[in-house]
Amino acid sequence: MTFRSPHVTVFPDARTAASVVAARLAAALRERPALVLGLPTGRTPVALYAELVKLTAATGLDWSSVTTFNLDEFVGLEGTHPGSYRQFMDAHLFRHVDIPDGRINFLQGTAVDTEQECQRYEHAIMAAGGIDIQIAGIGTNGHIGFNEPGPALQSRTHRAILREETRRGNAALFGGDPAQVPAEALSMGMATILQARAVILLAHGSSKAGCIERAVNGPLTTDLPASFLQLHHDVDIVLDAAAATELKIG
Ligand code: GLP
Repeated sequence: MTFRSPHVTVFPDARTAASVVAARLAAALRERPALVLGLPTGRTPVALYAELVKLTAATGLDWSSVTTFNLDEFVGLEGTHPGSYRQFMDAHLFRHVDIPDGRINFLQGTAVDTEQECQRYEHAIMAAGGIDIQIAGIGTNGHIGFNEPGPALQSRTHRAILREETRRGNAALFGGDPAQVPAEALSMGMATILQARAVILLAHGSSKAGCIERAVNGPLTTDLPASFLQLHHDVDIVLDAAAATELKIG
């Protein structure tokens, strides 16, 4: 028996990848109605959320006992701000499935004491029994959530300063203007993410090919936070063909 984690699966296109992951999540949800999910934002999970919404309408998936924790949120934004990740999640998933509002967990970007807010989030994850499945995307610089590359990483939920490329990557939420993207965010740390029982990382497109190769086969390095996924025993990396073009599968 060969054991390998991260386990990598490549699909011809992003849509097929999304429907396979949606089917896996639907099966997990049927098996465990009180599933605890960690959720990402970004362009990548949009197709996954659309597929989940479709499956829910077609098969009556019951989300009423599900608990969710989003990975991150911008500092200074209310959840009602159109650029907030909370609004993104409402638009793509929460408005379409029956998760009770009290089971939807978000970091509060407007918290006065952000350190306390990060601790509150860690405790809330623990109190929910931990995350069963953490879904994640990846930034072109190898970030997950807002764990940015640098000389050091903070392991737990923390306040992060965003890099220029990350602000550019998020500009679409702010009318295309990177200067409007908040300079800071609150984010689960890599240890928080790695504590989930399973992790599914999605990546699409050729702009992710380099960081995917380094995340899977490169050394563990704070220069590429996603490389720390190699420490986890149950990571699935789900790619479209373009994101797999630099991958050396040995
Ligand atoms: C943001 C999010 C990340 C996400 C990344 C990639 O910076 N904080 O969680 O993975 O964008 O986004 P996209 O899927 O749009 O490439």
